[in-house]
Amino acid sequence: MRITKLKPLISEEAIQKRIRELADEISALYKDEPLVVVCVLKGAFMFFSDLVKHLSCKPELDFVRLASYGAASKSSKTITFTKDVEIPLEGKHVLIVEDIVDTGHSMDFLFRQFQARGARSLRLAVLLDKHERREVPVTSHFVGFALPSGFVVGYGLDYAESYRELPAIYEAEIEA
Ligand code: PRP
Repeated sequence: MRITKLKPLISEEAIQKRIRELADEISALYKDEPLVVVCVLKGAFMFFSDLVKHLSCKPELDFVRLASYGAASKSSKTITFTKDVEIPLEGKHVLIVEDIVDTGHSMDFLFRQFQARGARSLRLAVLLDKHERREVPVTSHFVGFALPSGFVVGYGLDYAESYRELPAIYEAEIEA
């Protein structure tokens, strides 16, 4: 499989404008409450980086990386940490920052894990909410853009580890 064409989908300007709006909403919600903002590597690195620059609520920042196994069978899909947060979450508000929610398995796993650690509240900020292939319900509290279908790259999202560096989001045409 290879990408044959990249079609512009969401411009750099549109992304940055939406991020400022989300940052204002998030800052107003948490004010001076203890907040940990968690980046889900690798895909969310650019969204996370741009979002936290505009937060005025003085958050702590941390990172996780997840791996999934058994994707061939939906029911046997297992998610694990390959990197966990280092900051204790008990008693703190936690905002997970994710690039895209697709089947929902990754966020379902992370919500269960963080809930068990006694977070005071748990919310999700997702740049792209893609419903087409959802298998597990996920509540996205802050959504950048709804994405009905298609394969997208850029702004942190990859195809075989390429295209993450692009400042805008593109729909990829893939040839088998
Ligand atoms: C992608 C994306 C989300 C997850 C969403 O990560 O960044 O974390 O998949 O999929 P789901 O809703 O079906 O669980 P990926 O595993 O490709 O890793 P990456 O972020 O390092 O690219």
